[in-house]
Amino acid sequence: MSENIVVLGAQWGDEGKGKTVYCLLPFVDAVVRFQGGHNAGHTLVNKGQKTVLHLLPSGIVHEDKACYIGNGVVVSPSALKKEISQLEQQGIDCRSRLKISHRCSLVLPSHVALDQARERHLGSASIGTTGLGIGPAYEDRVARRAVRVCDLLDAAKFRQQAEGLLEYHNFLLKQYFRAPCVDVSSVIEDVLAEAEWMRPMIADTGLLLHSAAARKDHLLFEGAQGFLLDIDQGTYPYVTSSNTSAAAASLGSGVGPQSLGYVLGVTKAYTTRVGNGPFPTEISDEQGRWLADKGAEFGSTTGRPRRCGWFDAVAMRNAVRANSLNGLCLTKLDVLDGLPSVKICAAYSGNESVAATDFHSARTPEYEELSGWNQDTSGITDFDALPRQAQNYVQRIEQLSGVPVAMISTTAERDQIIFRPGLVPDFIGKPV
Ligand code: IMP
Repeated sequence: MSENIVVLGAQWGDEGKGKTVYCLLPFVDAVVRFQGGHNAGHTLVNKGQKTVLHLLPSGIVHEDKACYIGNGVVVSPSALKKEISQLEQQGIDCRSRLKISHRCSLVLPSHVALDQARERHLGSASIGTTGLGIGPAYEDRVARRAVRVCDLLDAAKFRQQAEGLLEYHNFLLKQYFRAPCVDVSSVIEDVLAEAEWMRPMIADTGLLLHSAAARKDHLLFEGAQGFLLDIDQGTYPYVTSSNTSAAAASLGSGVGPQSLGYVLGVTKAYTTRVGNGPFPTEISDEQGRWLADKGAEFGSTTGRPRRCGWFDAVAMRNAVRANSLNGLCLTKLDVLDGLPSVKICAAYSGNESVAATDFHSARTPEYEELSGWNQDTSGITDFDALPRQAQNYVQRIEQLSGVPVAMISTTAERDQIIFRPGLVPDFIGKPV
């Protein structure tokens, strides 16, 4: 197996991928984003200082890591500029280490207008998107009418291409959604102005990554959102518009599938979801609100409250199968401290597939109830130091999911993590 690693959300996003990647940074040379856009929100905490990243790979906070935005990402030039400016104000140099694929499709202000108009139009059937234009940008990509990062390099050509696209968007906004149009020429000039400073970072990232892999650099492919939001494998139509699965790390970066290496699924010790759609293990009563409060479950991009529920081993088995997961990183175990008992959904009565097309039909979880632990696990960095009941809980998750729990996170702080020897890949533990 090549000595690279893919880090994916194994649930509906917000699993703690940012923290997981942060912990793995010392052992890798480069971090690659390969799908999604600034709808992601990756939170990194170091000695109490919190950084939330949306579009930039998490490696950006580590001064000697190369960072790549791969071709599968949709890029909003204004969001990228804002994020880079904020980091630069904190003294973090981004531009010398960041390369953006010339193949990325752009997210334009008209995509935002379309996303929001469509959600309003759907009313009670809305998806609950982040409203940032991600879906419409991917639609244009698949329809082969997107404007891409490489188009920014030739202003005259860009004006011509973007004009056609924006007129089409305005037609939809005005005629179909009865929503305000965007001003075509000011959108074009704004995007071109924002693109000017992007220019030195634009590259053929597939080629650069190939060279890095040939040098035996360790690459970390950083997923956004989570497996159950995958456009093909997730709870369609309540999904995001990209493939969030392991295979997308290859397609969205230009690195062949044999080079991806170890696939790590990140999962909370329970489950959360933002936005609408099915959630078989959702806890709709007081206990759900208790979990939301204790886990501070508010979206890092939109601030929306997250729905909370028990760990769903059926959904996890599905994630293991579809992503070839080698292991899990279990996060927020400490949030469950103090509960008299904890539940795991071991099976559904009836259909096993959470993403099946008939998801509207009732799917009843069959729970196993395990003893809780009345001890504080926050900050523990050694598996043997966990209360016995917490160890049992982790081991039962392993049995039901069919893969080892290789890492366990016990707070948001980057160094508060358990690496389980023998279960993480060999290169983890050897700082580069
Ligand atoms: P979109 O990606 O903005 O189109 O939203 C589609 C669905 O994905 C909605 O349910 C969003 O709440 C969800 N979503 C998008 N990005 C994230 C994320 O980073 N974490 C969790 N949910 C997300």
